[in-house]
Parts: sequence; C-alpha cells; structure tokens
Amino acid sequence: MCGIVGYAGKNRAVPYLLEGLEKLEYRGYDSAGIAVAEGGTLRVTKTRGRISNLEALIAAEHQSPATVGIGHTRWATHGKPNDVNAHPHRSMSGRFCVVHNGIIENYLQLKAALQAEGYVFVSETDTEVIAHLLDKSWDGDFVSTVRKTAAQLEGAYAICVLCSDCPDQIVCTRWGSPLVLGVCESGTFIGSDVTAILRHTNDVYYLDGHETALVDAHGAVFFGKDGAAVDKQPRRIEWNLSAAQKGGYEHFMLKEIMEQPKAFSDTVSPRITADGTIAFEDFRLTDDEICRLRRVAVVACGSAYHAGAVGKYVLEKLTRLPVEIDIASEFRYRDPVLDEDTLVVVISQSGETADTLAALRLANERGCKTLCIVNVVSSSIANEGGSVIYTHAGPEIAVATTKAYSAQAAVFYLLAGYLAEKRGLLTKEQLAAYTEDLRAMPDLIQKTLGDCEQQIKTLSQMFIPLEHAYFIGRNLDYACAMEASLKMKEISYIHSEAYAAGELKHGTISLIEKGTLVVALAAYSDVFQKTLSNIKEVKARGARVLAVSTERHVDALGEVDYRILIPDCNPLFSVTLEVLPMQLLGYYTARARGCDIDKPRNLAKSVTVE
Ligand code: M6R
Repeated sequence: MCGIVGYAGKNRAVPYLLEGLEKLEYRGYDSAGIAVAEGGTLRVTKTRGRISNLEALIAAEHQSPATVGIGHTRWATHGKPNDVNAHPHRSMSGRFCVVHNGIIENYLQLKAALQAEGYVFVSETDTEVIAHLLDKSWDGDFVSTVRKTAAQLEGAYAICVLCSDCPDQIVCTRWGSPLVLGVCESGTFIGSDVTAILRHTNDVYYLDGHETALVDAHGAVFFGKDGAAVDKQPRRIEWNLSAAQKGGYEHFMLKEIMEQPKAFSDTVSPRITADGTIAFEDFRLTDDEICRLRRVAVVACGSAYHAGAVGKYVLEKLTRLPVEIDIASEFRYRDPVLDEDTLVVVISQSGETADTLAALRLANERGCKTLCIVNVVSSSIANEGGSVIYTHAGPEIAVATTKAYSAQAAVFYLLAGYLAEKRGLLTKEQLAAYTEDLRAMPDLIQKTLGDCEQQIKTLSQMFIPLEHAYFIGRNLDYACAMEASLKMKEISYIHSEAYAAGELKHGTISLIEKGTLVVALAAYSDVFQKTLSNIKEVKARGARVLAVSTERHVDALGEVDYRILIPDCNPLFSVTLEVLPMQLLGYYTARARGCDIDKPRNLAKSVTVE
C-alpha cells in the first residue's frame, strides 16, 4: 500500500521526509521518492527499491536546505515498479509535483484527453494525470487549482502537491484514501497514516473526504467540499507505533479482514465501464481467440487454489466452458493435456510461489493461452504470463491471506462476465445487470463484517477446546468450506477438514458422533435444499451444527444449533460474503488459543521453494 509524507517547517525537510517514509515501510512498497521546494524550483529524487537506495541517492546528489517537501512509498498498481513510475510525479511545465495514494478509475479517459491537448506522459501511472491536470487547471490560486483538479478525478485518492509558485506551502486533499496532519513546534507534518507523524505529535487532524488543507510551517487551514473554510479540531491518538501500524487492530490479519470492502472495490470498480461492461488493462486474448477457447485450466496453491475453485463454478456457469482446477504442485508433474485452445489461469497473491510459477512456465511451453491473477505488480508470475489481471488488494502482511483471496474471487467474477459476453452468452444488458450486482458487493461485505463480528467472537468460544472441526458445503459453498477449513487450521492449529457435503456418506460420516462440531456452508441457493439434507444427516448422528446461510433461507434453518446469516445478494456472489465470518472464526479462535496469528508456525508468506 502506498504511503505519503509531507513536511513544511523551520528545519530541513529531507530528514523528516525520510524518517516518515521509514515509518511507513511496514505498508509494503517497491519504490520511494521525495520532492522538495528549493525557492522556485521543485527538486525530485526517486528510485526503485528500498528507502536506503533513496537515502544513498539523496546523499550523492544533494543536501537540500529546503524546508518544505513531500514524499512517497509506492506499491505498484499501474505500471512496473521502476524509477520513472515512482512518485512524486511532475507536471509538464514543472510547476507542480504530486504524490498520490489510491486508484484513479477514470485515468485512461483523462489521459487520452490530456494527450490530445499535447500533454506528454513519461510514466505508466494513473497519478501522472493528476500532475498534468494541475497544470491545465492552474488559475494562480494553489488551493483552487488542486480543488479543480480533484473534482475531475473518479476513484480513490489522497494527494499532496507542491507548487513552484508557492514554495512555502503544500496543498493536500483526499477522497477514499486517508490523510492525517499534525502540527507541532517544528512544523506541520502530513502522513497517509499516523505512524508517519506519531514521533512528532499525538494530536492529529484527520482530513475528511473532499476536504482540502493548505499547509505551511505554522499549521494548516482547512476547506470543505464547497470551498468554505472549516474549523477542525485535532484528535488525540493514544496508540503506540506498533498499534498504529495495524491501524489500531491487534493483528494485521484482522486489519486485512476489515480492508476487504476496499480490496474488492479497488479490484472491481476500475474494470467496470460507465455502460456496465468490463475492460481489463493487460488482457491480450483477441475476441476471436476467446471464442475459440475450448476449456480453462485453473492452477494455484493454498487459498489461491480455493479462489480458483470459486472461479471454476462461476466460469462454468456463465461461459459454459469446461473448467479444471489443479493444485500447482500436482499440475506441474502430471503431464497435463494442454493445447493452444486452453486458457490456463494461474493465481498467486505474491506472484513468486515456486510451484505456481513452474506450472505457468509449463503452460507457456505447451503453447496455451495464459492469464495470471496476481497481487504483486511485476512479480515473476506477472512478468511471465501472457495476460495479467492484478488484484488491487494492496500489500498483505499476515501470512493467512484474507483480502487477497477476496480480490482473487472478485477477478473471477469479472473474468466470467467478460468471457461470457465475448462468447455471446450474455447480452450487454445482462452484463450490465451483472456488473451492477458486483458493484453492490463492497457495501454488503462491509455490512456482513459489521453484523457478524460480535457473534463470531462469541461462537469462537466453543471452538477453543476442539481437536477437530468439519466444514461442509456443495458447489460454491464447498469452495468456501475449503477456505474456511484452511483458515481455521493454519492459524488456530485445530485439525479441520473440508468435505463436499454430498460425499460425507461415502466414508467421512463415520467420524461424526455426539457433539462433533460441523460448520455447514449453505448460502448458495441452487443447492440449499441438498445441503439441508446433509445437515439433517449429521444432526441425526449427534453433530452440533453451525450453519452459514443467507437471510432468504432463515425459515429453513430451524434445526441447526447455531446460525450465521449473511445478506441476500446475487447467488453467485454469496460465497464472497460467506467466507467473511469464516475468516473471523479462524481469527478469533486462534486469538483465544493464544496463537501467533500473523506468523503461524512453520509457514511463510511467500513459498518460493517447491
Ligand atoms: O502467494 P500465493 O497466492 O501464490 O500463495 C499461495 C499460498 O501459499 C497461500 O494462499 C497460503 O495458502 C496462505 N497461507 C493461505 O492463507
């Protein structure tokens, strides 16, 4: 996740900017940069890689006396992690420098319009449109220019701007991405989160959406959405640095669970066009190739494989293409039957998982069309895939994945709609209705998390003494059962199994005895009645059943011992809501058992060996 810092004060800006950037390192980044105002000149220093690289560059290039500056750590979303794409970005005239967090959804339209007017782009970023728009909007008033620029942006942004005509000032504004300011004796500090500021002051101003702040060494003046001055009061932050890095949450995992509405929205929204169709940035299959596809093979490891299981059901349902799903370590050694009319979809959060990378290489060698769903831009898998669709989940720090998994499922929803329309199985109107439902999901994710957290805390108590737990479901619910079971075992160390509910009576039901805890995933309407029969079967053998289902099925759940209800939505998407209480269940059970949640034993975030 990108980080922003800013400083306007009495002292040299560079040390404060570097110190602030270091405090934001925990968010993950792949390049870093600063811009300082030296009289009428804005000096930019930026580089790919660690902040130590930036420090070395600054030490070699200058000892700037500037007292005003902005800085940024970039986590690549649009364009590779390289020097040119690193922030700050400069406007064509050189009058403005900008740093930006968030995603500008209409940047392609804005870029085309600016290019038509002669603006030359040097980077692949969405941020550079902001720099040129500032030039274009310049009216001699710094605040008004930033406000006019921001009014043209769609999506999420937190921006800090330097202007060579106003070298003592910084202007910042935000919508959808946070910004905080702190004022103290040595000057005014800006940060994308409080960790960048805490060393200087605990009293911070949170910028509200569409508010703008004019910052100088003496403090900040705030303006509301309508441009009128706003009187803001600082808020006292009692967190220490570690708590602040986790946004006040006890663990990164919980923070990342709560970030899922944003991860889903950031992944989906930029790909849905104004008329409700779907567009991807780096999708290289032609319409003709899409129509010629004869099957899809989905390959991944761990939770990415479980997201692929969601993808299988959704792709088959919408595209009527046969979809196989395989664990990468199995796929690579089984001499799979592949041809040029097979689309191999490879999924990886890190983009570095050794088995998944090997599977991709095999598919490339065999002449298949390959498509990678990856979170880390320019990772090995992203670089070697025929096409890439990035999940915009932001960096994930907890070993147990949550938001990246949800973003992967989101990509499959987009992909299925996209391919179905191209193959003539969805009309434009049907696709628009589908994407409308998809757009509604971030709010429903937010609601589900808010509604079920307390209930899950209570329910997790009965899991604490367990040695075994069973998760059952059918179709999409089975895909969720696999992920729910993995979440439970990897962080709480309770042995858990996921079974296709209809498969129980072929052996596993012999393990069910009085008191066995069975979690029944029963949200997917198409198979609800069937899953209900399986619930009755385990109940009849003495199991205690915790069922997860949607509000529309509440009346049929009379027999279960405990139930968690999620909101009704497009049935294909219910798995995205259903997995949320399961993530929380794993989390709160592990917490109650005193486990090391963010770094479970024997596990690594990125498995780069086979
Ligand atoms: O980086 P990747 O998505 O390729 O990682 C795949 C698995 O290692 C990963 O999903 C793992 O299963 C997680 N710990 C699950 O929470």
